[in-house]
Amino acid sequence: MSLFTRLVSYLTLGATLVASAPLLDTIANSTDGQDGLLPHPSCFPALDFEMPLFLPKNNTDGWWCDPSTEYAFVGFSYEVTACQSLATLNQEFHDIRHHFNSRYVRLYGACDNDGFYDDIVEAAWNNGLGVHALIWFGFNGDDVWMTRRDTLFATLHANPKAKFVTRVVQFGSEPLFDNVLPHDQLAEQVILAKQNLSSLNIPVTVSELAYGYQERGGAQDVLDAIDSINIHMLPFFDQTASTSNESWPLVQNDLQWFIDHGDGKKMNLDENGWPSVTSPSVQPNSPDAVADIPNEHEYFVLLDQHCEDFKATVGGGVGWFAHIYSDNMEPGYGIYNSSGHLKFPFAPRTHC
Ligand SMILES: *[C@@H]1O[C@H](CO)[C@@H](O)[C@H](O)[C@H]1NC(C)=O
Ligand SMILES: *[C@@H]1O[C@H](CO)[C@@H](O)[C@H](O)[C@H]1NC(C)=O
Ligand SMILES: *[C@@H]1O[C@H](CO)[C@@H](O)[C@H](O)[C@H]1NC(C)=O
Ligand SMILES: *[C@@H]1O[C@H](CO)[C@@H](O)[C@H](O)[C@H]1NC(C)=O
Ligand SMILES: *[C@@H]1O[C@H](CO)[C@@H](O)[C@H](O)[C@H]1NC(C)=O
Repeated sequence: MSLFTRLVSYLTLGATLVASAPLLDTIANSTDGQDGLLPHPSCFPALDFEMPLFLPKNNTDGWWCDPSTEYAFVGFSYEVTACQSLATLNQEFHDIRHHFNSRYVRLYGACDNDGFYDDIVEAAWNNGLGVHALIWFGFNGDDVWMTRRDTLFATLHANPKAKFVTRVVQFGSEPLFDNVLPHDQLAEQVILAKQNLSSLNIPVTVSELAYGYQERGGAQDVLDAIDSINIHMLPFFDQTASTSNESWPLVQNDLQWFIDHGDGKKMNLDENGWPSVTSPSVQPNSPDAVADIPNEHEYFVLLDQHCEDFKATVGGGVGWFAHIYSDNMEPGYGIYNSSGHLKFPFAPRTHC
């Protein structure tokens, strides 16, 4: 049925009822996809999507938004090493969604408590947010990531809501840069993960710097294996870095490398930002690199100014995450400082 005929029939129906307004309200607020009265077929996790009261039946067909709508600002990196309570997750995901118009959280770090990913799923569902889940390698060179992988996969299969909020599973952070696995073994892990998650329709990626691939000979096997590309964009560390407002050529340079080698796959800048302070683990490689709050802010202003460029990039446009939600998660990179105050106004565009 066309939109027009459907509108007319509802109006006709409405006119025959005394209490027509509530009916029209209900119809106008419905989110039934292609044939609804919304300006576009809504989908999860679009900003105008209303979560259903009940879990959709069986599979995710037609559930997820088209990747071509997921460009510009999409959400935050969010570290979970603190093993936040469900109450904190609910509160912060609500803020992430409603204060900043986010569609996603990208997990960073790891919490190995039993059932923690179930809490992530619950908070994400409650707040209409999608999740980029993460298999965290850490920095100790041990095998704990295998347990994390198995636990996550088991939850994704067991929790009926999980596949409706988990947009992608990432291996990370920076497994190539940190050389935690030879690239052919990482590619093999990606392929095995895709097989494991195929019945849930959950794709798999790697969270990595351009330089991480480049220093492993390009690691084309990994790029070929992943479904989409999660890019670490941290231009502060470039050898030619100065102020963030001069960093667009650095962003373009790394992005172009993925355009050239990524076979047109969807790209997100998932670990992406500029620090307001240096620290032992955040040291520049350029004497001119400036770390302060105005430069942290200006980096996101710069990305916002290039909304149209991100939209026009292959793969359905580039989405970007702000790394990271709070300074308590990574010193200097937070949008909030460590006492919970916004460091600068932050309302980036979600479309253009
Ligand atoms: C529909 O949305 C409007 C505006 O957001 C709101 O005022 C109204 O209460 C909603 N109706 C229903 C039935 O949810
Ligand atoms: C659920 O989905 C699976 C695969 O998507 C399909 O094989 C199965 O028949 C479906 N079950 C029901 C009850 O629709
Ligand atoms: C997926 O991985 C989990 C954890 O390793 C395992 O228990 C499960 O059998 C696997 N499922 C499939 C379909 O491969
Ligand atoms: C970038 O910011 C600096 C101050 O941090 C300013 O002096 C400079 O003019 C700005 N450059 C551009 C291109 O806006
Ligand atoms: C956080 O920001 C507030 C408001 O600008 C400021 O008063 C406070 O000192 C800041 N806290 C830290 C730890 O920087």
